[in-house]
Order: sequence, then C-alpha cells, then structure tokens
Amino acid sequence: MAIQWYPGHMAKARREAIEKLNLVDVVIELVDARIPESSRNPIVSEIKGNKKQLILLNKTDLADPIEVKRWMAHYQAEGLEVLTIEAKDGKGMTQVKAAIKRLMAPEVEKWAAKGVRPRPTRLMVLGIPNVGKSTFINRIIQKNQAETANKPGVTKGQRWLKIGQDFELLDTPGILWPKFENEEIGNKLALTGAIKDSLLHMDDIALYALELFRLDYESALRKAYGLNDQDMELPNVDLLLHITKKLGFKDDYERASERIVFDIRGGKLGRYTLDHAPVSIGGLGDA
Ligand code: G4P
Repeated sequence: MAIQWYPGHMAKARREAIEKLNLVDVVIELVDARIPESSRNPIVSEIKGNKKQLILLNKTDLADPIEVKRWMAHYQAEGLEVLTIEAKDGKGMTQVKAAIKRLMAPEVEKWAAKGVRPRPTRLMVLGIPNVGKSTFINRIIQKNQAETANKPGVTKGQRWLKIGQDFELLDTPGILWPKFENEEIGNKLALTGAIKDSLLHMDDIALYALELFRLDYESALRKAYGLNDQDMELPNVDLLLHITKKLGFKDDYERASERIVFDIRGGKLGRYTLDHAPVSIGGLGDA
C-alpha cells in the first residue's frame, strides 16, 4: 500500500504507532536494504522511548552485497541491533528470533531473579510502505497459521499472532510515512517502489536512475540496454531517447522510462544500493 501523505495522515500514523508501541517489548523496524537510510523514518527513534529495537534490512537479495556489509557495520558501530533478511523467501527468520531473545535477555534475567516466569515477548513491526512488512509478518508466523489470540484488555481489536511459545506479534504493522527530506530521497523512494506510481513522473525517475547507474553500476546499465562507449558519452536526456529507440519504442520515452524503472526494481540490472554507507575510518565496512 502506498498512499499520499498529508500532515493529518502523518499525525494519525504517529498516534497509531505510539498506541501499538505501548503494547510491546520490542519494535522491529523494517527498512529496504537498497536504501537503508532513505527508507527509515527518524520518528522511530523519537517515539520508541525505552522499547528495544531491532532493525531489519530487508530485500537484501536486491541490494549490493558490499554496501549491505558496510551498512551493517555502520549500524552496529552505532550500537544498533541489526540483521539482514529476505522476507520474500523467508530467509533470516531464525536469526531474527535469536536476536530478539538476546535483546530480551536482561529482562528475562530480572524476572527470573524475582521468581517470575517469563511471558512471551511482545513484538510489533514498523516501517514505511513497501519495505515488506506484511511479507515479513507472514513469514515469521509461518504463513497459513491461523492461530491468533484475542487478549482481554488490549485496545481496539488488536490481535496477537503467536510465534511458537516465546513470541507474540501484533497482527497489523505500524505504517510510517516516507520522509521526503529532499528530491534525492524522493527519487530513491520512487525508484525502489515506496511511492505510488500514479504520483510519479516516470521520466524523471528514469533520468535519475540513468545518472546514478552511470556512476555506480555502469557495466550493468551497458549490458541491459546494449550501450557502447559512444552511447555512454551522451547527456542523460539523449541517453534516455537513445534507449527508447533501442527498445523499439520510437519516441515514446515515457514508455521507455517505465520499462527502465521496472527493470531496475525487478533486479534486471543486478543488485544495487542507492544509499551509500558513511565511510568509516580504517575502512571498517570493507572487512
Ligand atoms: P509492506 O507491507 O511493507 O507495504 O510490503 P509488502 O509485504 O506488501 O511487500 C512489498 C513488496 O516487496 C511485495 O512485492 C513483496 O513481495 C516484496 N518483498 C518483500 N520482501 C522481499 C524480499 O526480501 N525480496 C524481494 N525481492 N521482494 C520482497 P509486490 O511486487 O508488491 O508483490 P509480489 O511481487 O510479491 O506479488
């Protein structure tokens, strides 16, 4: 789901996220591994209070593996608990459960010291549209499981999905608005599919993509559209028109733009990351 966000929507989303947060022990923030920074919403740190937080870089199957490593190192250096997953294929779920247990270990110890039997850890998922929240929820609860429990005293029909004996997950994720801090972030969100296509000018997004792929993934770009050295000398707009012709779309650059954006989203140009991890001293991220 991608909607157009107005201040009213944002206030409501914020309020609902806080309501859910009050019910849980751990908040799981999903981000898109191709844009680990642009797909975050800084509101999470503001509203999470003292709740524990786990960050999941999802869609790592689409992201540049070197950049994924750098981002992991960056977040870990900031003291954040972070993991990579591929929700679509269900990869990383065991590690997610282990990480939550690690986060909760001090609490469990405290309970044990008081002689209290540990209760299941309560979880919620939070993130901007299209990062894979529903896919992740279905995967971690092992899809067709219909076992849901209505708990007395829980607000407005919130339902808990059981994950084995140890965890309970709120069945609906908290949906946050994508942050549009500047045009570049907007372009990155658009290129990865976090914004409804009907709100976009595909030619602008395609031009942005061409510029970016020229810089970072030139050989993938050349290969996908059969471009030679001379083609690569063309300014962006001319390159788009050239690709349009090569694709057999004559002058219909809008159709070509849509194709380029969909090709990139679908991984036809290989793995890519649009946010560069901050470079750390000593090349920590390259380890
Ligand atoms: P949301 O709840 O956060 O809005 O996201 P949702 O789960 O609906 O997932 C959004 C899209 O991302 C879906 O694709 C989903 O399949 C895809 N997705 C989720 N996790 C992964 C992953 O780890 N890798 C890849 N490559 N894709 C992932 P869709 O095009 O909307 O639907 P479909 O292609 O699955 O039919």
